[in-house]
Amino acid sequence: VAAARYEAESATISQGLVESNHAGFSGTGFVNYDNVTGSSVQFQVTAAQAGAAILTFGFANGTPTNRPMNIIVNGTTVAGAKPFQGTGAWTNWQQTAVNANLTAGTNTVRAVATTANGGPNVDYLELGSPGQPGATPV
Ligand code: GCU
Repeated sequence: VAAARYEAESATISQGLVESNHAGFSGTGFVNYDNVTGSSVQFQVTAAQAGAAILTFGFANGTPTNRPMNIIVNGTTVAGAKPFQGTGAWTNWQQTAVNANLTAGTNTVRAVATTANGGPNVDYLELGSPGQPGATPV
C-alpha cells in the first residue's frame, strides 16, 4: 500500500502562504510559514483503524537556525519543539518523523512554530505504519 501523502498546500494554514518558488517540492507548492511564533499548518488525515503511525514531514529550511514546531495530534502535543534543522538551502527538501497514535477515521495533525522565526517551509505530511515504511495504517 502506498503511503498516504497530504500536501501542505491543501491543508488549513494559519499565518502562512502557499508558494512554489523553491524547486523540489511535491504537489503544486509548499507552505511558507509567517516568521512569527504560532504560525501553523493543520492536516486532516484518515486512518482506517486506530493504532501507531509514523508522521513524516517533508520540509526545507534554508537558514542555519533550527525552526522547531510543536506537533499536535487531535489536540494533544505528541512532540514539543520538534526540531526542523537547517537543510542547507530552500531547495533542499528533507524529511523528519514523529510517532503518534491515531484514532480510526479522521485525525488532525497540527504543526505550530514555537519561535519568532516561524516554521520551515513545509511540503507535505506522510502517514506510515511502524515497521512498514511506505504503508498506511490500514
Ligand atoms: C525566504 C524564503 C522563503 C522562506 C523565508 C523564511 O524568504 O524565500 O521561502 O519561507 O525565507 O525565512 O521563512
